[in-house]
Formats: sequence, C-alpha cells, structure tokens
Amino acid sequence: MAIQWYPGHMHKAKKAIVERLKSVDMVIEVLDARLPASSENPLLAKLSVGKPKLKILNKQDLADPDRTEVWMAHLQERPDTLAIALDASDTGATQKIVRACRSLLPNRQGIDKPLRVLICGIPNVGKSTLINGMLGKKSAKTGNEPGITKAEQRLFLADDFWLYDTPGMLWPKIIVEESGYNLAASGAVGRNALDEEVVALELLDYLRRHYLQELQIRYQADKDASSHWRDEEWLEWIGKKRGALLPGGRINYQKAAEVALTDFRDGQIGRITLETPNQWAIWLKKAQQNEAALKAAREARKAERKGGGKS
Ligand code: G4P
Repeated sequence: MAIQWYPGHMHKAKKAIVERLKSVDMVIEVLDARLPASSENPLLAKLSVGKPKLKILNKQDLADPDRTEVWMAHLQERPDTLAIALDASDTGATQKIVRACRSLLPNRQGIDKPLRVLICGIPNVGKSTLINGMLGKKSAKTGNEPGITKAEQRLFLADDFWLYDTPGMLWPKIIVEESGYNLAASGAVGRNALDEEVVALELLDYLRRHYLQELQIRYQADKDASSHWRDEEWLEWIGKKRGALLPGGRINYQKAAEVALTDFRDGQIGRITLETPNQWAIWLKKAQQNEAALKAAREARKAERKGGGKS
C-alpha cells in the first residue's frame, strides 16, 4: 500500500526542514513505540546528519515493553542518539526530555548559548500532548519574528531551552509496504486514504503470527482451532463475535475491520508492537530491491524509446 503524505508538497517541506535545521542544535523525533521504524522520517534522518538526536518512543503504554527495550537499544547504537520511552501519563516526561537533551549537548546553556531544539513527528503520534505537558502552565510564546513562519512555533521551556515546533514536516514516499500498513493500523493515516478491510487483514495476519494468545483472549477464540486460522477467518470470527452482521446473517467485513482496528488502537488486544529491528531490516531490503528493479525497468524503457527514435 503506497502512502504519500500530502503529495506535491514535498519540495516545500524539504526546504522548510533544511532552513530550520540550520538554526537548531539538535532534533527530537517523536516516534510511535508500536511502529518505531515506520513512524520515523527517513528524509529528516538524511537532512540532519551530524546533529544529535533524541528519539522519543511515545505511547509506550500501548507497545510491547520487551520490544520497546529492543528498539531503544537499537536506536542508541546510532551516533549521538539517545532514546527514551514515554506515554501521556508520565508526569516526569518533561524532566526526562530536558535531561536527555542537555546530556547530548552539555555546552549549550545560558541565555547567550540557548539549547535550540527542533521537535517533529508524524500526525497522531502524540506530539501536541507531549508539548502541552512540557509547557504546563507556561504559555506558548509564538514567534512573530524574522525566520519563523506563522505556522511555526518557538516555545520557551526555559530561557536557555528553546523548542521549535514546525508543523507540516512531511514524509517522502513510503517504500516499505509493511510500513504503510502499520501506519494505517496505528491511526496515523486519515481514514479516507485507506481500505480498512485490507489494513485490518494485514494487522490480523501479523497478530496471529506474533501475538496469537492476545488475539485469542480478546476474542474468546478456541485455542486449538484458532492457532491455524488465517487472517480472513479471524476477521469473520470477530464479525460473528461482535455482531458485525448484515441482514441475513452474513458478516459485515467492513464493520468487523473497524472493530479490530479500534481495539488495536485502544490497546484492547494487548500491548503490541508491529515491528522489530530485524523484521524492519528484512522489509527495507525487500523494498529497496523492488525500487531498484522498478528503476532499472524504467531506464530500460527509456533507453529503448531513445534507441527507437534514432532508427
Ligand atoms: P499529534 O499532535 O502528534 O498529532 O498527536 P496528539 O497529541 O493530538 O495525540 C493524538 C492522539 O493520541 C490523542 O487521542 C491523544 O490523546 C493520544 N495520545 C497521545 N499520547 C498518548 C500516549 O502516550 N498514550 C496513548 N495511549 N495515547 C496517547 P485522540 O483520540 O485523538 O484524542 P483524545 O482521546 O485525547 O480526545
């Protein structure tokens, strides 16, 4: 499933990131702990090489705690990178974030050397909740000054700790197919942009392979029989169990898909993470090979057209 965030605006978005990166010391990227790789912006990684980074695995309350540990260790293998796991109920979140940023750049402090931090994250990842928590009773000072666009905010967490919140940090084309599904399952993609039945089937396929027990418990499925169910059968079972039926007793698959997705998003199936670093590496490799094959085919067609034109 190819998802392109707001197609057509990529160039503008890239320019905005490049401009803002010039005047910040480090970057916070808020990730969804249930899909840390899929919720990461590859373009941001490319453009911000050399800047220290804090990766926040947010919504950890919904994610598999063991996998969150694995992801944090994995992310911290990168140079100048720290990772922390948070959720909206964490009253110590602000201190954890500030402490982590300060430890990455201990020399940036004092009014004449403020620590300037860019914060970004995909829609629905919980960035606003996090920022509101950080601001507390402090009012957000919005920049009405040169170099700061109307949409962009400069928030003063302390005299020497500035946070730049730049909305509209857009994502390039998502080449990893599984990422598209995981983003859709998480709720990061608008409902109109996706086929919920397809997304639910992909989700159920992953869950039956990696979180079967959670699935069985949530939907009171007979353990022996369910252990070999396929994704369509799971969707049918959920439809029956939840009364997602059409006149005549046929399964309303759309309704059943909505049930499964809502349950997943609300954490009702359990604490689930839809990808591991190893799985991600395999998916990415496959996607890159596909992209390379497509590119080669395009170039071959182009060469053929050129050759044809000459004769
Ligand atoms: P954004 O700025 O990145 O787009 O996200 P925002 O803060 O608006 O949060 C998106 C949704 O995620 C909100 O739910 C919010 O309550 C929820 N959320 C944020 N942080 C966490 C977290 O750590 N854990 C969990 N479980 N949920 C979190 P909503 O349904 O859109 O709104 P509402 O329930 O707050 O009314």
